[in-house]
Amino acid sequence: MIQQKLSNRRGHTILLGGLGGDSHSVGLTILRQSLSANGYQVRYLGTQNTLADFFQMASLTNLVMISSMDGHARYYLREFPTLKRQFNTNGTIWYLGGNLGVRDACERDFMEMGFNRVFLKFIDLTTALNILEQDLESVQPIANYPELCKQSLPATGRFAGVANDSLLEHETFESRRREVLEHWKTGNGARNLASNAQFLSRQPSFPRAQAQVRINPGEILVQPRCGVALISEQLRLFKNFKRAGIKVLSYQVDSLTRNNNYAGAEEAIRDSRLSETSTLNGFPIVNHGVTGLRRIAQQVRLPLQTRHSTRDPRLLAEISYAGGVTSFEGGAICYNIPYYKDYPLAESIRNWQYVDYLTGLHHKLFGIVLDREFFGTLTATLIPPSLAIVTNIIETLLAVRQGVKCVSLGYAEQGHRSQDIAAIRMMAKMTGEILDHMGYKDVQVNTVFHQYMAAFPPCFKRADELIRSSAMTAARSGATRLIGKTPVEAFRIPTLKDNIIGIELIQGGLAGASDIHVDEAQVGEECAVIRREVDAIFESIVLCGNGDIAQGVVNGFEMGLIDIPFSPSVHNRGEVMTMRDVEGAVRFLATGNLKLDRESREFHQHKVSERRKAEGICSPSEDHVLVERDVMQVVSCRYEHWPLGH
Ligand code: 5AD
Repeated sequence: MIQQKLSNRRGHTILLGGLGGDSHSVGLTILRQSLSANGYQVRYLGTQNTLADFFQMASLTNLVMISSMDGHARYYLREFPTLKRQFNTNGTIWYLGGNLGVRDACERDFMEMGFNRVFLKFIDLTTALNILEQDLESVQPIANYPELCKQSLPATGRFAGVANDSLLEHETFESRRREVLEHWKTGNGARNLASNAQFLSRQPSFPRAQAQVRINPGEILVQPRCGVALISEQLRLFKNFKRAGIKVLSYQVDSLTRNNNYAGAEEAIRDSRLSETSTLNGFPIVNHGVTGLRRIAQQVRLPLQTRHSTRDPRLLAEISYAGGVTSFEGGAICYNIPYYKDYPLAESIRNWQYVDYLTGLHHKLFGIVLDREFFGTLTATLIPPSLAIVTNIIETLLAVRQGVKCVSLGYAEQGHRSQDIAAIRMMAKMTGEILDHMGYKDVQVNTVFHQYMAAFPPCFKRADELIRSSAMTAARSGATRLIGKTPVEAFRIPTLKDNIIGIELIQGGLAGASDIHVDEAQVGEECAVIRREVDAIFESIVLCGNGDIAQGVVNGFEMGLIDIPFSPSVHNRGEVMTMRDVEGAVRFLATGNLKLDRESREFHQHKVSERRKAEGICSPSEDHVLVERDVMQVVSCRYEHWPLGH
C-alpha cells in the first residue's frame, strides 16, 4: 500500500484565491488540491476577489496566497498597506504570485507593501510546497473555525434555485422580449419577427451547409476565428476568408459586449474610428445592430454564426437572427461554469431557454431552421470526453424542449488521437440515441472539433505541427466542422495573415488525413469507456432532477454529480481532478461525486497508477505534480510529437 506522506501534518490554515478581473483558475485549482492533499486546511476563495475579501478572512489563517494573473496587480493592491494596518493580521504570512505587471514587475515594490514572499515567475509545485513548509515550520497552526469560515466563503452549499425544462409559455416569452429589446437602443430594430424572417430566409444557412457535410463525409467545414470593432474591417476579413475557400463564417464578440456593457463598446467603436485600429477584441454586434449586420450578410453571402460567451445572451441572439445569422453559440452550462465566478445555473438556464425558444419560434412560425451550438470545450484543460459529452447532451435536451431543430456539439481535442476520435463519434451517436429515445426524430445533430484549446506551444514549428496533425484527427473523427487555430495562438489574437497561414496548415492536414493510420481497435475501446461514463453521469442527473433536466442540472452541480475540472465557478464543486495516462489520454485522477460505476472507477485508478509508476511517484500526495506537468506540457513544449498519443 502506498504510504500517505503529508508535508504538513500539523494542519496549518491557508487562504487561497485570485485577485482582480481574471478568471484563470487552472493554477489555483492545482494548488488548492495539492495543498489539501498535503495536509493543509485550505480556505478557497476562487477567482475574481477584491482585497477586502482576503482581509476579511486573513486573521483566521496562517498564510494568505494571492494570485493575480492579468498584469494589473499594482492597481488591485493599492489599498494593501492601509488594509494591512486596519485589519489586525500581525501573525499572518502573505504570498503574492502570478503575472503581476503588464511589462516588468518589481519584487521589491511588493515586498515594501508588506508581502513576505513575491513570486514573479512560474515556480513548480514541489518548490512552492518546500518553501511553504519552511516558512511555516516555526509557526503555530491557527485554531480552526470551520463554521465561521464557511459563512465568509463563496460556498456552493447555498440554495441553488429552481428551474424547469418545460416549454416556455408564449406570453412569458413575449413579456420578457419587450424588456430584452429595451436593453440597448438597437434592440428595437429586431422587433418585427416576420420581417426578420423574410430577410433570414434569403440567407445562406448554417444548418444546410452542415447537412451537406453529412451527405458527403470528408467535406468537413473549416472555420477560422475573427472579430474586430468596425464593420468595414470585419467585412474585409470575411471576404478574404471566402477567397481562401472558407464556407462558413463567424465572428467572436468583444468582451465588453460579453459583459453586456454596450455603453463601453460604443466608446471603443468611437476610439477605433478615430485611431483607425480596432480597440476591441471582437465584433460588437449589439452596437452595430440589425442594419450593420445585414450589410455584412448581404455582402459576404456565406452562412454566419455568432460566437461569444455572453452572460445575458438574449439581446445578442435577437440581433443576430434579425441580422441574418443562422447559428448561435452558447448554453446554460458551457457559457457559465467555465467563464463566471458566480452565475447561478437556474438563472443561466432561464436566459438560454429564452434563446432556444426564440430559435425554435423561427421554425414554428416561419419554417426556418437555425443552428444552436454548444461549447463542450468547457475549461479546455484536461477535459475527459464523458464530461464534455454529458454537457452537450443536456444542453441539446434543454434546446429541443424549446423547439430547436439543429444542434452542433462541441468538443476540444485533448491530444490522444484514438480518444479524440472516439469522443466525436460517441458524442454524435449517443446524443442521437437519446433524442430518438425521447421521441425527437427531426433534430439535426452536428459535431464540432476544436483544435487544441488549452495553452498553446509558443514555438512556430510545434504550433504548425499541432494544427496540421490535429486537422488529420478531425477529418478521421467524422466531425461536421473544425474550428481552427493559428500558429500565433500563444502570442496574440491572429491577424488576417496569421489566419490564412492557419487555414493553409489545416487544409494541408485534411488533404493528408486518409494516409494516417488510425487504431480502430483502440478507438473502439475508448468508445466503450466513454459510453459507460456518459450513461452513468447522465442518468444520475436525470434522477436527481426527478426527470426534469433543468432541475437536474441545478441539483446535479450542487451535489457534484457533474463537476467540470479547473472551473472558476462557485457553483461547480471542483472535486474532480484529471490527468494524462502514460499514453497521453485524459483520465480521472479523482472522480469526486460523479456516479461512475465500479468498472469505470477501477479503469481510471489503474491508468493513474501506471502513470505514477512510470514517473516514480510513490505517494498520492504528490499526484498534483503530475497534473501540473500535464497542464504545462504543451505550453512548455515538453513533448515529442502531436498528437501526444495514438
Ligand atoms: N479574432 C481572432 N481570434 C480570436 N479569438 C478570440 N477573439 C478573437 C478575435 N477577435 C480566438 C483566440 C482563441 C480562441 C478562444 O478564439 O485566439 O484561439
